[in-house]
Amino acid sequence: MCGIVGYIGFREAWPIVIKGLKRLEYRGYDSAGIALIDHNDLNIYKKAGKVQELENYANGKNVSGTVGMGHTRWATHGAPSDRNSHPHTSNNGRLSIIHNGIIENYATLKEELERRGHTFNSDTDTEVLIHLIEEIYKNEQNDLLEAVRLALKEVNGAYAIVIMDQDHPDQLIAARKGSPMVIGVGQGEYFIASDATPIIEYTKNVIYLNDNEIAFLKRDELLIKRLDNVVQTPYIQELELQLEMLEKGGYDHFMLKEIYEQPRSIRDCMRGRIYPAEGKVQLGGIKEFVDKLKNIDRIIIVACGTSWHAGLVGEYLIEEYARIPVEVEYASEFRYRNPIITEKDVVIAISQSGETADTMAAIEMAKERGATIFGVCNVVGSSIPRLTHAGVYTHAGPEIGVASTKAFTAQVTVLTLMAFYMAQQKGTITNSKLIELLTELDTIPDKIQLALQSNDTIKAVAEKFKDSRNCLFLGRGSGFPVALEGALKLKEISYIHAEGYPAAEMKHGPIALIDEEMPVVVIATKNSSYEKVISNIQEVKARKGVVIAIVTEGDVEVKKMADYCIEIPDADEAFLPLLATIPLQLLSYHIAVMRGCNVDQPRNLAKSVTVE
Ligand code: F6R
Repeated sequence: MCGIVGYIGFREAWPIVIKGLKRLEYRGYDSAGIALIDHNDLNIYKKAGKVQELENYANGKNVSGTVGMGHTRWATHGAPSDRNSHPHTSNNGRLSIIHNGIIENYATLKEELERRGHTFNSDTDTEVLIHLIEEIYKNEQNDLLEAVRLALKEVNGAYAIVIMDQDHPDQLIAARKGSPMVIGVGQGEYFIASDATPIIEYTKNVIYLNDNEIAFLKRDELLIKRLDNVVQTPYIQELELQLEMLEKGGYDHFMLKEIYEQPRSIRDCMRGRIYPAEGKVQLGGIKEFVDKLKNIDRIIIVACGTSWHAGLVGEYLIEEYARIPVEVEYASEFRYRNPIITEKDVVIAISQSGETADTMAAIEMAKERGATIFGVCNVVGSSIPRLTHAGVYTHAGPEIGVASTKAFTAQVTVLTLMAFYMAQQKGTITNSKLIELLTELDTIPDKIQLALQSNDTIKAVAEKFKDSRNCLFLGRGSGFPVALEGALKLKEISYIHAEGYPAAEMKHGPIALIDEEMPVVVIATKNSSYEKVISNIQEVKARKGVVIAIVTEGDVEVKKMADYCIEIPDADEAFLPLLATIPLQLLSYHIAVMRGCNVDQPRNLAKSVTVE
């Protein structure tokens, strides 16, 4: 949560920082602010609301300067308001800071600083940090880098920070622990950002700062040291990101673009990993652990939100094909229990952003207890892949819409590959069966393309239900996580209350909700639970519920009962989640657009949840 951008170089900083903040707005959009140094003047502009509001506010003001930094906020401490927006300044107003993360011991530090005469202008933890740095700076013979280092040793929590000093207008100081930070390396210029998207059009050379590292940047100088004062040699990597990936490409919203990208993203995810003719799966990222996989007792999957739903699909597939028991845990619950974890366990952490705080904490705990950790992440170079022992990237490309779509189907694809890979290694699947499954998996991107062709039908259904107040999603087997995901998509972008339920559980409670006002979306494709789902549809119809069924192309039975049917291509049960999710994404999208909601940036949400 929160996006940060910094620049020092020969260009005007304002346009770089503003554009960068717009790219990072998916990380939070409660308020935004920018600080610029023009000669020796520090100019700060900040505003509650989106980056556009900040831009309007600064119109006509002095936005000159070749050193600058900006912040887009998702509020943690202190309501979204002008005064709580970043940047924050020190007591004497000469130092300023932007911060992504949480300073957990800020209250104690604040009390101490107040005793020493500091007064605060905001309710944020961030302002406390810059005052602490100022307090130490006073005694450090003008060495701001050392003051920052000593201050950071006193704080608990997570941070990615950038600091500017009005008295030293030719430098920036940045540091990270637990929140992401990338430094772009140009000729006579440096860029700083929460991810590489603000940097990509200026340079492809980047350094991912590690936890507990501080960077001291001048136009032609970069020094990185650790909190323990050991100087580090920077490792410069080349970005694979393309600029077009960050643009809407003619679609009205990023979410719609990302829904339509799924045939491609799933192909990218499978590229070089499946060999249908030989019946072989190759996962280079985890191959070192093949022997371990043959002997493990169980797998624990940890994740949050949509990624947790992907984990539930993974559970079905791994148990079905590799015959390894799987437990799927919300990372936020798992980390605060005292779970039984042994060295024989493999933990799979799933995360689009690779930055989710709860998932990171769950990994750390499992690692301490000796488990082997695999990551399934989308953002290359993010924190989770660096915490894990091994992993498989989803390669879905940047996902900008806050509601996850293509990242989910890519996660499910990777978990499908993992299930087949483990089955192949353990010998729980025959080669001929694997040839059959992989041959079909290879056609799934084309089938998704076909599923997308129902868009007009789905839009017509959306029109009927756009004013609903509640909605129930039902599914069985691997259709259950699809139902959960469908409900989450609808509630997060359209603000309609929605619940996903295992279809058979409906009669243990939710059936009481059903009346002629209640739309019930049912995953009723042809698979092993088809007949059972038909009975569940009858139960809904008997209570006058309105059924919207996701059915297999050519279905006759469900069509006799359901009020609306949306067809998807026929496929093996293993691939049902990949196909059945598509119409649900489109349904939520159209309903949200029709209700006038901000589809790409739903209220109160952020894409990267770096606080617990
Ligand atoms: C919903 C959504 C969230 C995320 C969750 C975990 O559309 O995107 O529920 O899935 O916040 O995020 P990651 O996958 O980045 O760990």
